[in-house]
Amino acid sequence: MSKKRVAVLISGRGSNMEALIAAAASEAYPAQIALVVSNRPDAPGLRAAFERALQARLEAHRIDLVCLAGFMRLLSADFVDHWRGRMLNIHPALLPSFNGLDTHARALAAGVKIHGATVHLVVPEVDSGPIIAQAAVPVRDGDTAETLAARVLEVEHRIYPAALKFLAEGRVTIVDGRCRIEGETEADDVLVVPGICDGRLRGSQ
Ligand code: GRF
Repeated sequence: MSKKRVAVLISGRGSNMEALIAAAASEAYPAQIALVVSNRPDAPGLRAAFERALQARLEAHRIDLVCLAGFMRLLSADFVDHWRGRMLNIHPALLPSFNGLDTHARALAAGVKIHGATVHLVVPEVDSGPIIAQAAVPVRDGDTAETLAARVLEVEHRIYPAALKFLAEGRVTIVDGRCRIEGETEADDVLVVPGICDGRLRGSQ
């Protein structure tokens, strides 16, 4: 099967883009990163012109799938609809909790013990859409938004390539608005925070 051609859209640092490129370097990976588009989030008045130009680039590069990776520009419903089922986003929280901005500071303020990241298909409503993968991390005493962000970012770099792989392999179907991943390996880990040192909880399941 030929590799899916992927465009990654970024606005800033680009560490998730790097993780996707690194994963795609492997021979067995079902997708190749064919295009990276970076924008600055200013000039919102240029949205229609920006989207026309973007769509032209995506078509010129025969892009199959789009990955938003820290892309800070809102996309119109028309654009999103065009790419429905073929566009992914990564969000630094366990959706539907903490959608929007400043997720790590808000998670700390709420006092949650477990936080994480989500890869989902993009729909017109921001930070919504069928979830393909999530990863959870513990919130530790003394965490700052920065230390928590760094812990979450590490798992982002693992789940984004994995989610793109599932999509590129055609293993993602949407049933009743939820993603089903064909042949998915059942997750068997339990994350308990604070930790339970004697391991009884895990053994007693
Ligand atoms: C990540 O935390 C991602 O979840 C969010 O924006 C950040 C982008 O970081 N959407 P990077 O540009 O991939 O390093």
